[in-house]
Amino acid sequence: MVNKISIVGVGGVGATLAFTILNRLPVNELALIDIDADLAKGSGLDLEDCRGSFGFSTKIKGSNRLSDIKNSDIVVITAGLARKKGMTRLDLLKINSKIAKEISEKIKKLAKNAIVIAVTNPLDFITYIVAKETGFPRNRVIGMGSSLDTSRLFNILHNSTGASTLSMQGFAYGPHSKDMIVESKRITIATKSLESVVGKSKAKTIEERVQLRGAEIVSVLKKSSARFGPAAACSRLIETIVYNKNELIPVSAMLKGEYGLNNICLGVPCFINRKGIAKIIEVELTKKEKTALKKAEKLFKECMI
Ligand code: NAI
Repeated sequence: MVNKISIVGVGGVGATLAFTILNRLPVNELALIDIDADLAKGSGLDLEDCRGSFGFSTKIKGSNRLSDIKNSDIVVITAGLARKKGMTRLDLLKINSKIAKEISEKIKKLAKNAIVIAVTNPLDFITYIVAKETGFPRNRVIGMGSSLDTSRLFNILHNSTGASTLSMQGFAYGPHSKDMIVESKRITIATKSLESVVGKSKAKTIEERVQLRGAEIVSVLKKSSARFGPAAACSRLIETIVYNKNELIPVSAMLKGEYGLNNICLGVPCFINRKGIAKIIEVELTKKEKTALKKAEKLFKECMI
């Protein structure tokens, strides 16, 4: 049982996440906060009406008051602009940084023991801002991006091979952008390497499809971006924390020397448990991976520091 979860930003991802949490997790209190007070309040009332069907006892409150995050165990940041057709995630940096700073200041004051999960894009940059502004230890600031990328990878692999995603292992990681790293060496299907199952050329096609999956969804939706996949990936992360599962999940973490990188947030494989990020796992990198991480570092430092 977790006492209190707050979701700041009750748009597509935040509202879907709230629904998923109520469906799957025992939570005493769920606070929904949005700059649009009516959206937060109305969504809260609508979600309450799931009670009769799902049977939860969670107290739900929707408002535009950031003070409602007080004493949360977990705060999820899904507030800010989302991509529309033709935009990259980085196009959102200026406006979403400001929003993330404002929310982080409140978290620091009112929910000082919380684990914070950043979802807002550009994800690695926003995770960095949250880490800096809250000053929280790095185990308690988690960016949700690579876990969604990995979920997308497994879905595409399922569609290509018919294998259950439960028989797949591995992860996509690095930046949560089209430059994410999908290294076939890291991925197995029923213990066999990805390339041995689908062949080298198909493995390359799969890599490219995963990298562009977010953009593919935006290009169809046009006025908004993905919500169900992101909410599911975020919900899995929260369940892993609440149930102290110690699962290996790639998340954006503040790096302090790991992978030769310092003072930068990027997706890396981590053990997640009730402490948040319990351990960052380092793997020996291929030349391709080293090049990709260096490129991500360069862009990060140009835009952020
Ligand atoms: P949305 O536009 O549906 O919802 C965003 C909500 O934030 C709106 O309801 C808006 O009123 C609210 N908001 C804006 N400024 C606020 C503030 N200062 N305080 C409180 N609430 C505020 O967007 P959606 O689709 O829910 O996406 C949210 C964010 O998550 C976007 O930045 C999007 O790019 C990102 N995202 C990240 C993913 C990831 O894998 N990390 C996946 C999908 C979306």
